Amino acid sequence: RAATDYQAEDATISQGTVASNHTGYTGTGFVDYTNTTGSYVEFTVSAASAGTSSLALRYANGTTTDRPMNISVNGTVVATGVSFPATTNWDTWATKSVDVPLNAGSNKIRATATTANGGPNLDRIGI
Ligand code: GCU
Ligand code: CA
Repeated sequence: RAATDYQAEDATISQGTVASNHTGYTGTGFVDYTNTTGSYVEFTVSAASAGTSSLALRYANGTTTDRPMNISVNGTVVATGVSFPATTNWDTWATKSVDVPLNAGSNKIRATATTANGGPNLDRIGI
């Protein structure tokens, strides 16, 4: 099945802002996480059936320091400290994939920064 994309700028943002001050994003912008632990972006996604799906997160990290995040589904952390390593600069985007369990129907997928640097810039997810 083809993945469906969900733009970060359309998601629920806690401690972050929609920005467009770097190139290469899709949609109308990306989320710039506030540089603090606990900043997050939460997406509401739909699944036709229950089971494991590959979640792709398109991000940029223009620093030389990893920006790990926890990935939760419907309030349960399903992947801890997922690495979002450097992408050379803020205009260069990479994709990180992680398997996540989904319920049939609506699901809340949240990506939460686990260090004081906050998350990477987040363009979109695909699931
Ligand atoms: C810079 C950059 C932002 C980024 C931020 C950060 O300010 O322009 O896009 O989010 O660094 O370090 O998180
Ligand atoms: Ca930031």
